[in-house]
Amino acid sequence: MFQKSISSLSVLFFSAILLITCQNEKKYVGTQKNSKIFSVEDPHSYSNPSKIRVTHMDLNLEILWSTHILKGFVTVTLDKNENADTLILDTRQLKISAVQNISGKALNYWLGDSKAIFGAPLYIVLGKDDKKVKIVYETIANAAALQWVSPPQTHDKKEEFLYSQSQAILARSWVPCQDAPAVKFTYTAKIKTKPGYLALMSATNPQEVNESGIYTFEMDQPISSYLLALSSGEISFKALGNNCGIYAEPGMLEKAAWEFADMQKMIDEAGKLYGTYMWKRYDVLVLPPSFPFGGMENPRLTFATPTVITGDRSQVSLIAHELAHSWSGNLVTNATWNDFWLNEGFTNYFEQRIMEKLYGKPYDEMRQVLAWNDLEKTIAEMKADGLLGDTKLKLNLKGRDPDDGLSDVAYDKGRFFLCHLEKIVGKKNWDDFLNKYFKANAFSYNNTEDFLKYLNQELLDKNPEWKRLANASEWMYGEGLPKDAVKPVSRELDKVDLLITNYLNGTLKIDRLDTSGFTSHHWQYFIRQLGKKLVPENSMNSIKIVIELNSIYILTEIDKQYKFSNRGNAEICCDWFTLSVKVGYTQNRPQTEKFLVSIGRRKFLMPIYEALVKTPEGKISAKQVFEKAKIGYHSVSAISVEEVLK
Ligand code: BES
Ligand code: ZN
Repeated sequence: MFQKSISSLSVLFFSAILLITCQNEKKYVGTQKNSKIFSVEDPHSYSNPSKIRVTHMDLNLEILWSTHILKGFVTVTLDKNENADTLILDTRQLKISAVQNISGKALNYWLGDSKAIFGAPLYIVLGKDDKKVKIVYETIANAAALQWVSPPQTHDKKEEFLYSQSQAILARSWVPCQDAPAVKFTYTAKIKTKPGYLALMSATNPQEVNESGIYTFEMDQPISSYLLALSSGEISFKALGNNCGIYAEPGMLEKAAWEFADMQKMIDEAGKLYGTYMWKRYDVLVLPPSFPFGGMENPRLTFATPTVITGDRSQVSLIAHELAHSWSGNLVTNATWNDFWLNEGFTNYFEQRIMEKLYGKPYDEMRQVLAWNDLEKTIAEMKADGLLGDTKLKLNLKGRDPDDGLSDVAYDKGRFFLCHLEKIVGKKNWDDFLNKYFKANAFSYNNTEDFLKYLNQELLDKNPEWKRLANASEWMYGEGLPKDAVKPVSRELDKVDLLITNYLNGTLKIDRLDTSGFTSHHWQYFIRQLGKKLVPENSMNSIKIVIELNSIYILTEIDKQYKFSNRGNAEICCDWFTLSVKVGYTQNRPQTEKFLVSIGRRKFLMPIYEALVKTPEGKISAKQVFEKAKIGYHSVSAISVEEVLK
């Protein structure tokens, strides 16, 4: 699913930055509100929460549409140790104009050196009794977290649209904050936008437009900075259940509501599995196609890509996934980005359980097989790139972009580890354990070691055989997949394999293949397995040419029969266009280019661009397309693509 987006060269570059930054790192020791000892060394934040910690924020921002700037102030409330006097916040390209205490007295402040990705620390010298600090600031135009979408790039093509993407460490580019996932705070906000537009946040949200364009928000449950979110535009709302609904551009609203009709059922089933939903409402905002991710679990308001509105409800697992984060991630948060698998692995496992419950086992087995194959491929590629260290669940991202940890490893090695534990201890014991785990750690954070300790204490120590079979330290600290990992199977997809064999060996002609009842998952598997046959990794050159000629013929025939190049389903388009480029089937290049220009979801862009740059002709066309497309991409995607084109 996720490919590695970073070259070894940039690893070297960031390691060099690390050498410079880590000299200032301290071990944080202090207390957090929930009485857990605050002891987190976060390699991606300059802040000092063990001494002075932000517990609440009051934001007051105006959206300046004409200049693409957010401008205003934030008042932070602090919890501090007796003798601590310097508050440190993370910032990235923020323009700070004043810092004051609650009585309006100017406080001494300065910005430290600025570094790529990490930004600059903001030091503020506090008076003895200062518990609140007001920071007056504005963002630069087009801050890294923010995407200012022009009307032609929206669904309805009429109005502008703004959205933020704070994970992993982009919150600091629009709010000065302690940008470390272990630091949790409540917040309120007053946002001024264009009259007639709606504004939405990861908080209590309006459901109707108000003519003043001024909205107030409250999030009274503590969240991490990476979950701070803001969006504004011409947006309407439609309720879907008791406590859930859809926000989208008016022209998209009904389609989205139809696609996600099962949302209430998902919330109910999730609650039955691992404890009541804690965040009051669960709404989903459908964003313009440039959104760089599939979904983002902003509390109370998931942000979602429109590429999952396929008209056949085949991608609703995205909702199950982002909803599951309401427990794994938003309630129980990874202590640092080195423990990212605690967010995503748990969420993928939870998503799987919700999907199985709603749509049955055969359906979920298909998804597991697809994920397993992706994971094997990713691990092989990472090995080839000398990145085996990143195939451990526990990561070491010190000095590097946390995005480097965004691979199938956290998601699916993490998920399959939990499946493995479930099998060993049995579903009932496992579910009881997870229930307890979420309750015991709600509104707090954990690192891999905390989890391991809790797992042993509450579960594995009860039975020496469980503990032996669990093999937990190899899963967490070993490279690749452990030998005891069990490959999932799917009867449905076995049928697809048989069909491909019969077709390729000439037993059945294309129009005799029985594809009745195929879902988009069958098709995705079909394209990927075909790819494995047609583009073998290690074939000798002379054989390769023969295969290539034949492959172009095969893809032409298949496209004529199944019309993959003209389907609306982005998952299928991505797989098909990638295979087409690899094989040299160029007839669908116009559709491929249109796809790359109209969609900004990184997961779909990367494989196609990566395949294109492998030939001189492809590289030229990749560069041309990127020139056209980049204005529509969020910085997260644009930077990744640029990396590939270099
Ligand atoms: N929280 C992630 C997205 C993310 C991770 C953004 C790391 C920035 C840094 C979100 O929950 C996610 O996993 N999204 C997936 C979709 C999902 C169905 C696997 C995606 O965007 O593809
Ligand atoms: Zn996720």
